[in-house]
Amino acid sequence: MRILSGIQPTGELHIGNYLGAIKQWLELQKNHECVFPIVDLHAITVPYNPKDLQKNIIETAISYLALGLDPEKSIIFVQSKIKEHTELSWLLNTITPLSELERMTQYKEKSRQFKKNLNAGLLNYPILMAADILLYQTDLVPVGKDQEQHLELTRVIAKKFNNRFGKTFKDPKALIPKEGAKIMALNNPKKKMSKSLGPQAYLSLFADPKEIQKKIMSAVTDPGKTIKYDPKKKPGISNLLIIFSLFSSKSIKELEKKFKNKGYAEFKKELVNLLILKLEPFRRKKKGLESREVYVREILFQNTKKAQVLASSTMEEVRKNMGLI
Ligand code: TYM
Repeated sequence: MRILSGIQPTGELHIGNYLGAIKQWLELQKNHECVFPIVDLHAITVPYNPKDLQKNIIETAISYLALGLDPEKSIIFVQSKIKEHTELSWLLNTITPLSELERMTQYKEKSRQFKKNLNAGLLNYPILMAADILLYQTDLVPVGKDQEQHLELTRVIAKKFNNRFGKTFKDPKALIPKEGAKIMALNNPKKKMSKSLGPQAYLSLFADPKEIQKKIMSAVTDPGKTIKYDPKKKPGISNLLIIFSLFSSKSIKELEKKFKNKGYAEFKKELVNLLILKLEPFRRKKKGLESREVYVREILFQNTKKAQVLASSTMEEVRKNMGLI
């Protein structure tokens, strides 16, 4: 089976990215052919600084490696280096219904957030994502809950294309984890953890012990003092329980039992210790790679060549089937 998933190079990766997506990638790369682009062309649909983008692309590549993605097993590359992504995206534009794009939740949210920069790229964003996926004849797409709608649209586009021009693309399926598909913001557990909600909202995967302590100890909790999983009535503590459970491989039930008759502070302190322990290897590896940029660039270069072979092959078929010369 072929697996594909991507992340935008918009700065630090957070524990939401890890629990929703990357943790699955690490499992999948053991037994499947995986393709993990750094999707820089998606990141330019909102205001950005070109200098920061360059830095963030390399930083994301370093992060992929530090988290355990293996460039011998998985194809790790920068999306914009393979021109077929934009070529296929244009071709898919011509068969994608406008109404489908306009009803996308992420588009609605982002167009509200970036009223002054409402560019066509923001609307067409899911078509580029469909191109990423379909170009590599992907079977499974491991992502967090927020990408589910884009995956459904990808399938609609693939079906439309195959019906109109003959079977060209595989039908890709989203792989969304049962737990951790939507980690909530630490400072507002009713909203998804995201960097756009400010530094207090998220915990970087490369945070040092001091930062981990600060962010977890000040995470918003709920009235009352029992450690109980109840996302409706206790969204704050439920979110922390999910994080605790996924990093410790202990079930929520076990944790509820362990922290029965104990207060929020004690629970949070243990979570801090757990996260310090689990994130430390990531931080250490990243530090080591930061001084080896030439090596990281070489990995990207070699992996781009592998991705190019796959992308060229699909595009040849697409051009032929669409009647292009
Ligand atoms: P992005 O860069 O916003 O997020 C990367 C991955 O992290 C997941 N994620 C979360 N999971 C759980 N809880 C959270 N709070 C949380 N925040 C983010 C996302 O679901 C995603 O899996 N459009 C995509 C990137 C993309 C892509 C693709 C993904 C472009 N092309 C092709 C898959 C296949 C995005 O913006 O992800």
